[in-house]
Amino acid sequence: MKKVNYPIDKKKWSPSLIPGVITLISTNGLKGNPNIAPKSRIQMVPFDPSILIFSGSKNGTTEKNINKTNCFGVNFIDSSLASITYNCIQWYGRDRITKAGLSLTKAEKINAPLINECKAHLECKLVDTKEIGSGYPN
Ligand SMILES: Cc1cc2nc3c(=O)[nH]c(=O)nc-3n(C[C@H](O)[C@H](O)[C@H](O)COP(=O)(O)O)c2cc1C
Repeated sequence: MKKVNYPIDKKKWSPSLIPGVITLISTNGLKGNPNIAPKSRIQMVPFDPSILIFSGSKNGTTEKNINKTNCFGVNFIDSSLASITYNCIQWYGRDRITKAGLSLTKAEKINAPLINECKAHLECKLVDTKEIGSGYPN
Protein backbone atom coordinates (compact mmCIF):
# COMPACT_ATOMS: atom_id res chain seq x y z
CA MET A 1 0.00 0.00 0.00
CA LYS A 2 1.21 3.51 -0.81
CA LYS A 3 1.93 5.37 2.44
CA VAL A 4 1.35 9.06 3.16
CA ASN A 5 3.55 11.43 5.13
CA TYR A 6 2.23 12.02 8.63
CA PRO A 7 3.80 15.27 9.87
CA ILE A 8 3.91 15.92 13.62
CA ASP A 9 2.66 19.49 12.99
CA LYS A 10 -1.10 19.04 12.75
CA LYS A 11 -1.44 22.45 11.04
CA LYS A 12 -0.02 20.66 7.99
CA TRP A 13 -2.88 18.12 8.03
CA SER A 14 -5.36 19.05 5.36
CA PRO A 15 -7.61 17.16 5.44
CA SER A 16 -7.16 15.84 8.96
CA LEU A 17 -5.67 12.35 9.22
CA ILE A 18 -7.84 11.69 12.27
CA PRO A 19 -11.46 11.76 11.14
CA GLY A 20 -13.91 12.92 13.77
CA VAL A 21 -17.07 14.75 14.58
CA ILE A 22 -17.25 18.52 14.14
CA THR A 23 -19.28 20.43 16.69
CA LEU A 24 -20.02 24.05 17.47
CA ILE A 25 -19.36 24.90 21.11
CA SER A 26 -21.62 27.67 22.39
CA THR A 27 -20.89 29.78 25.45
CA ASN A 28 -21.86 33.00 27.18
CA GLY A 29 -19.47 35.62 28.47
CA LEU A 30 -20.05 37.00 31.97
CA LYS A 31 -22.06 39.90 30.52
CA GLY A 32 -24.21 37.45 28.61
CA ASN A 33 -22.52 38.03 25.25
CA PRO A 34 -22.84 34.78 23.29
CA ASN A 35 -20.07 33.03 21.37
CA ILE A 36 -19.81 29.98 19.14
CA ALA A 37 -16.71 28.18 17.83
CA PRO A 38 -16.09 24.99 15.83
CA LYS A 39 -14.31 22.25 17.80
CA SER A 40 -13.45 18.88 16.31
CA ARG A 41 -11.08 17.47 18.92
CA ILE A 42 -13.90 16.16 21.10
CA GLN A 43 -14.27 12.75 22.68
CA MET A 44 -16.57 10.83 25.00
CA VAL A 45 -14.63 9.67 28.07
CA PRO A 46 -16.58 7.49 30.59
CA PHE A 47 -20.22 6.62 29.94
CA ASP A 48 -21.11 6.73 33.62
CA PRO A 49 -20.93 9.50 34.62
CA SER A 50 -21.42 10.89 31.14
CA ILE A 51 -18.32 12.98 30.48
CA LEU A 52 -16.82 14.31 27.29
CA ILE A 53 -13.55 16.09 26.75
CA PHE A 54 -12.60 18.63 24.11
CA SER A 55 -9.30 20.24 23.35
CA GLY A 56 -9.41 24.03 23.38
CA SER A 57 -6.95 26.87 22.91
CA LYS A 58 -5.36 28.90 25.65
CA ASN A 59 -6.49 32.37 24.58
CA GLY A 60 -9.77 31.44 22.95
CA THR A 61 -13.01 33.20 23.84
CA THR A 62 -14.72 29.82 24.24
CA GLU A 63 -12.24 28.72 26.91
CA LYS A 64 -12.35 32.09 28.72
CA ASN A 65 -16.15 31.95 28.79
CA ILE A 66 -16.21 28.35 30.06
CA ASN A 67 -13.77 29.20 32.82
CA LYS A 68 -16.08 32.01 33.94
CA THR A 69 -19.51 30.35 33.58
CA ASN A 70 -18.44 26.72 34.15
CA CYS A 71 -20.65 25.48 31.34
CA PHE A 72 -20.98 25.15 27.57
CA GLY A 73 -23.28 23.81 24.88
CA VAL A 74 -22.18 21.21 22.34
CA ASN A 75 -24.14 21.64 19.11
CA PHE A 76 -24.00 18.84 16.52
CA ILE A 77 -24.05 19.88 12.89
CA ASP A 78 -25.23 17.94 9.85
CA SER A 79 -23.67 18.13 6.39
CA SER A 80 -25.76 21.16 5.42
CA LEU A 81 -23.86 23.19 8.04
CA ALA A 82 -20.38 21.79 7.28
CA SER A 83 -19.27 24.56 4.95
CA ILE A 84 -20.43 27.42 7.16
CA THR A 85 -18.87 25.73 10.20
CA TYR A 86 -15.48 25.63 8.43
CA ASN A 87 -15.78 29.20 7.23
CA CYS A 88 -17.31 30.95 10.24
CA ILE A 89 -14.00 31.45 12.05
CA GLN A 90 -13.24 34.38 9.74
CA TRP A 91 -15.66 36.36 11.97
CA TYR A 92 -15.64 36.88 15.72
CA GLY A 93 -18.22 37.22 18.48
CA ARG A 94 -21.79 38.10 17.43
CA ASP A 95 -20.66 38.65 13.83
CA ARG A 96 -19.70 34.96 13.65
CA ILE A 97 -23.24 33.96 14.63
CA THR A 98 -25.17 36.39 12.43
CA LYS A 99 -22.94 36.25 9.34
CA ALA A 100 -23.01 32.44 9.53
CA GLY A 101 -26.81 32.70 9.35
CA LEU A 102 -27.23 30.99 12.74
CA SER A 103 -29.60 31.85 15.56
CA LEU A 104 -29.54 31.09 19.27
CA THR A 105 -31.96 29.86 21.87
CA LYS A 106 -31.58 29.54 25.65
CA ALA A 107 -30.44 26.25 27.09
CA GLU A 108 -32.70 24.68 29.71
CA LYS A 109 -30.13 23.86 32.39
CA ILE A 110 -26.99 25.91 31.76
CA ASN A 111 -25.92 29.52 31.22
CA ALA A 112 -25.05 29.09 27.55
CA PRO A 113 -26.98 29.47 24.32
CA LEU A 114 -27.78 26.63 21.93
CA ILE A 115 -27.81 26.90 18.13
CA ASN A 116 -31.30 26.52 16.65
CA GLU A 117 -30.07 25.20 13.30
CA CYS A 118 -28.17 22.27 14.86
CA LYS A 119 -29.74 18.82 15.00
CA ALA A 120 -28.83 17.92 18.58
CA HIS A 121 -27.32 19.54 21.64
CA LEU A 122 -25.60 18.65 24.89
CA GLU A 123 -25.84 20.99 27.85
CA CYS A 124 -22.51 20.54 29.65
CA LYS A 125 -21.12 21.58 33.02
CA LEU A 126 -17.37 21.95 33.42
CA VAL A 127 -15.84 19.18 35.54
CA ASP A 128 -12.17 19.94 35.07
CA THR A 129 -9.70 21.66 32.83
CA LYS A 130 -5.99 21.12 32.35
CA GLU A 131 -3.49 23.25 30.49
CA ILE A 132 -1.06 21.26 28.34
CA GLY A 133 1.22 23.40 26.17
CA SER A 134 -1.01 25.58 23.99
CA GLY A 135 -3.91 23.19 24.58
CA TYR A 136 -6.72 23.37 27.05
CA PRO A 137 -8.63 20.10 27.39
CA ASN A 138 -12.00 20.70 29.13
C1 LIG B 1 -13.51 22.53 11.50
C2 LIG B 1 -12.77 23.22 12.63
C3 LIG B 1 -12.47 22.49 13.77
C4 LIG B 1 -11.77 23.10 14.84
N1 LIG B 1 -11.49 22.37 15.96
C5 LIG B 1 -10.86 22.96 17.00
C6 LIG B 1 -10.60 22.22 18.19
O1 LIG B 1 -10.92 21.04 18.32
N2 LIG B 1 -9.98 22.88 19.22
C7 LIG B 1 -9.61 24.19 19.13
O2 LIG B 1 -9.06 24.73 20.08
N3 LIG B 1 -9.85 24.91 18.01
C8 LIG B 1 -10.48 24.33 16.95
N4 LIG B 1 -10.74 25.05 15.82
C9 LIG B 1 -10.32 26.46 15.76
C10 LIG B 1 -11.28 27.40 16.50
O3 LIG B 1 -12.62 27.18 16.10
C11 LIG B 1 -10.88 28.85 16.19
O4 LIG B 1 -9.61 29.10 16.74
C12 LIG B 1 -11.88 29.86 16.68
O5 LIG B 1 -11.55 31.14 16.15
C13 LIG B 1 -11.95 29.96 18.20
O6 LIG B 1 -12.96 30.90 18.50
P1 LIG B 1 -13.15 31.57 19.92
O7 LIG B 1 -11.88 32.34 20.23
O8 LIG B 1 -14.35 32.49 19.72
O9 LIG B 1 -13.41 30.48 20.91
C14 LIG B 1 -11.40 24.47 14.74
C15 LIG B 1 -11.75 25.19 13.59
C16 LIG B 1 -12.41 24.58 12.55
C17 LIG B 1 -12.78 25.38 11.32
